[in-house]
Amino acid sequence: MATAPEVASEQDLHGLDEAAATATAPRAPNVRMLISLEDDVQERLMNRQIEADNDVDSALGDDDACPNDDDANEQLDIGHHIYLMLLDNKLFLAPIGPDPLKVLDIGTGTGIWAIDFADQYPSALVIGTDLSPIQPTYVPPNLQFEIDDAASEWTFPKNSFDFIHVRGLFGSLRDWPAFYRQVYDHLKPGGYYEQLECSVCCHADDDSTPEGSPLRRWGQLFTLAGERMGKPTDVLDRQRQWLVDGGFEGVVEERFKMPTGLWPSAKTERGRKMKEIGKWRLAEVETGAEGWALALMTRVLGMTYAEVQAFLVEMRKAWRDKRVHGYTPVSVVYGRKPMR
Ligand SMILES: C[S@@+](CC[C@H](N)C(=O)[O-])C[C@H]1O[C@@H](n2cnc3c(N)ncnc32)[C@H](O)[C@@H]1O
Repeated sequence: MATAPEVASEQDLHGLDEAAATATAPRAPNVRMLISLEDDVQERLMNRQIEADNDVDSALGDDDACPNDDDANEQLDIGHHIYLMLLDNKLFLAPIGPDPLKVLDIGTGTGIWAIDFADQYPSALVIGTDLSPIQPTYVPPNLQFEIDDAASEWTFPKNSFDFIHVRGLFGSLRDWPAFYRQVYDHLKPGGYYEQLECSVCCHADDDSTPEGSPLRRWGQLFTLAGERMGKPTDVLDRQRQWLVDGGFEGVVEERFKMPTGLWPSAKTERGRKMKEIGKWRLAEVETGAEGWALALMTRVLGMTYAEVQAFLVEMRKAWRDKRVHGYTPVSVVYGRKPMR
C-alpha cells in the first residue's frame, strides 16, 4: 500500500508558474502532491475498460465546469431541498415585497428554484436562463426558460427586473464585477439581487479534517482547478464586497453551515435539523461528486480517470465516517439597486 505523499502548502497552490497555470497543462507536480492513491484501488480501476473521455465529454457542456447528465440534474434537485431546509423553507431571504412583476433566475439548472418561485408568485413573470437546455417542458404558465450565457452582453431591457437571483454559479464566471454591472443595469431602481454560494472547501470546528485529509485535499484541488480556469471558486467569500463595490445598497450577508454525513448529534432541535441536512447532503455529494470531480480533475488538473475514481473512494469513506465532522460554509447575500 502506498503512503500518502505530502500535501502541497497554500503557498505551493498559489505559486503556480505560468506554464503550469493553463487548462491544457498535463499533470503538474502540485496536483500529484494533492492526490494520494492506494495501489490496490488504483490497479483495480486501471484495469476497468472505461471510455473515460467519452464519459466526461457527454457530461460536460462547452467551457463549463458543471456536468449536465442525469446524476448532475438529480444532484441539483437534492441541493434545492437542502437549501430550502437551510433557509427554513424560504426560497430567498431578500425583502422583495409581495408583488414582484419580473424575476430572473440566472444559471437556473433544472429550473427547480424558478418553478417553485413561479408557483409562489403567480402574478410574476419568471425567466430562468442557463447555458444547458436541461429544464423541463411542463412548467407554470408564468415561467419561461431561455438558453443564455450570463457572461455575454444581456439582451433583456435595462431597468426591467424586480428581482434577480443566482444560486451556485461559483466556478462558472471569469469576471464577476462585470457580471454584477449587468445585474445592476437590468434591475429596476429599488429591485433586489440575491446570490447563494457555497464553498468548495470542507471545514470542521474540531481537528477531524486535518491537513492532508481527503476532505481538505478536495477543497485544494477544486480551488486550484478554479484558478487554472480563471473562474474563481471562492465566490462566497467575495460576493458581499463585490455587491458593495458594485453600488448595491443595504447589502446583507447570512452565513450557514451545511454538514455532510450523519455526524451531527440529534439531541437538540437544531442538531436534528443539521442531521437531516447532513443526510441529504451526503446523498447530494454522492450523486454529484463523480461528475464534478471528473469534469475538473481530468480536464483542468490533468488527473487520469483512475486517479479521480481512487480519490473518490477516499472521499466517500470520509463523508460516511461519523468521526469526520465536516461541513460546507454557505453564504447568502442580497442587496438593492438604489432608487435614484
Ligand atoms: C451548480 S448549477 C446551479 C443550478 C441552479 N441555480 C440551482 O441552484 O439548482 C450551475 C448552473 O449554472 C449554469 N451556468 C454556468 N455558467 C453559466 C453561464 N455563463 N451562463 C448561464 N448559466 C451558466 C450551469 O449550466 C448550471 O446549470
